[in-house]
Parts: sequence; C-alpha cells; structure tokens
Amino acid sequence: MRHELELAYVGIQVPDPASLAPFFGDVIGLEPGEPTTDGAATWRDDDRAQRVLVEAGPLGDLAYVALEAVDADAFEVVAQRLRAAGHQLVEGETELAAARRVARLVRVEAPWGTPLELVLGPEAAAQPFASALVPGGFLTDGVGFGHVVIATTAFDESDAFLREGLGFGRSDWLEIELAPGIDLEVRFYHCNGRHHSVALARAPFELPQKLHHLMFEVNDRDDVGAAFDRAWASGLPIPNGLGRHDNDGMFSFYVASPAGFQVEVGHGARTITEDWDDDRRYDQISAWGHQPLRQP
Ligand SMILES: [Fe+2]
Repeated sequence: MRHELELAYVGIQVPDPASLAPFFGDVIGLEPGEPTTDGAATWRDDDRAQRVLVEAGPLGDLAYVALEAVDADAFEVVAQRLRAAGHQLVEGETELAAARRVARLVRVEAPWGTPLELVLGPEAAAQPFASALVPGGFLTDGVGFGHVVIATTAFDESDAFLREGLGFGRSDWLEIELAPGIDLEVRFYHCNGRHHSVALARAPFELPQKLHHLMFEVNDRDDVGAAFDRAWASGLPIPNGLGRHDNDGMFSFYVASPAGFQVEVGHGARTITEDWDDDRRYDQISAWGHQPLRQP
C-alpha cells in the first residue's frame, strides 16, 4: 500500500469562529491550539500544532483541505503526479506557510471547489496533546487527523483528482436507494492505512455545504460513549446515534455542529492492508444502528 500522504488539517470558514469553540472543545474533546498568524482559531487532536483551522468569513463551509506528504520525496512525487494530471500548482507564499505552520506548501484547486494544500513539515505544538475529555487520545499516528466527507456535483472530476492527481486508492463504495428515486452514492478513498481519509458523496445539485462531516477516531471505545453523552447533553442535533458502518466497520455516532456540518466520533475501523481487495460496492451504510435521533 502506498503511503505518501496523510490528512494534515482542514480549514473551515464561519462568520463567528468563537461559536464553534464549545462544540469542538466541550463536545468533541479537541484541545485549542494557538491562533494562526492570520487570526484563525485552531484545534488539535494530537501533538501537531493545528488540525482544524476556523477562520472568520461568510462561507459557512469547508474552506480548504490539506494533505501532508510524509517526506520531501513524497512531496515531489505527488506534486509531479498532479502536474502530469493537468493540475496547476501554485507555490504558497511565506505568509501562508507561516499561518499553516508548515515548512512548505503548494495549492491546487480541487474540483469540489476548495483549494487543496499539499504541505510538508507541519509543526508540532509546544505542548504534548492531552484532553481531559478524551483520556485515551485520538488515533492519528501514520494515518492523519481523521477523515473528511465532501458532497459535490463534480463527482467524477473529484474522483479523478483524488486517484490520478493525488494517487489515492479507492477503498470501496456505497450505492443505495434512500427512497424511490433518491439515490445515495459515496466513494471512499485511502492514502495510508486509514480506511478512508476522504470520501465523496454525489450531490444531485449544489448543496448549501460541501462539508458533510469530519471524523475523529478515538483510541478507546469508551471515549465514543463519553462523547455521545456530551453530545446528547448539549442539545445539538444527533443525525445518527451509535452504530457500526458496514464498510469500514467503524463504531461511531454523528453530531451536527452549530455551523451545520457534522462530526463523526468513532473507534475501531478496519485498516487498509497491503493486499486490499475490497474494491466493491456496499448496499447499506450501517451494519446496525446510526438511527436518526435528534434532527436539526
Ligand atoms: Fe465518516
């Protein structure tokens, strides 16, 4: 299995970044990082300086996604692969690299409509990660901070961008009829041992938000339950209660953030193996559970 990339961080833009602090901090159990040099609030789920950046602005959605090359060779290989696939790479300014706290950065426009940042040398935080709410910590070593699921009308272009441009492998896919005439198609992509670092949902039309959800995986199953209790007590919508996904086997639930996008907190997903041969269709989202508990 190829391992050149890991999900480094995502940027979210909302009118009032402080409004997400109780959600990321008190419900999910992330730890606040230092604000960036350009003023974004940051959140950590491990020893890295920043994993989620929340900037002020009208978008109310995903603003960018960053993939970290595991070393300088991988950076060049992936940059070259993107160029060969016809994508225009723009070298990141020094100020931008400083705000992102990385040694190097190039940007490319992803077909789903946000910049994709390919970065090298992300900074570690001054303090090791510790969360009182998530005593077991988050699973990030060698697999990136979690996963991101993006809804897009540019589904096939985004598929080609991930596979041919960035070199992701397709893990499996989901095709189901939710209701007569309403189909759901989701494709799952890996770039390391995590079952998927990115998934794409085919949007029938331009949705208000591209960002469907972010996923954070915890090391201890009980930390999923504790997060569920906090989500329940918060009064926030819980679009999916506890359940287990059929394809990645993740035990998880989903809570909606005050900004609309969702966060999945999970544990125990299976990993991509050297001889991955599950390039196949699933016809159910969950083996059990994930019932809608509290709708927005
Ligand atoms: Fe997910």
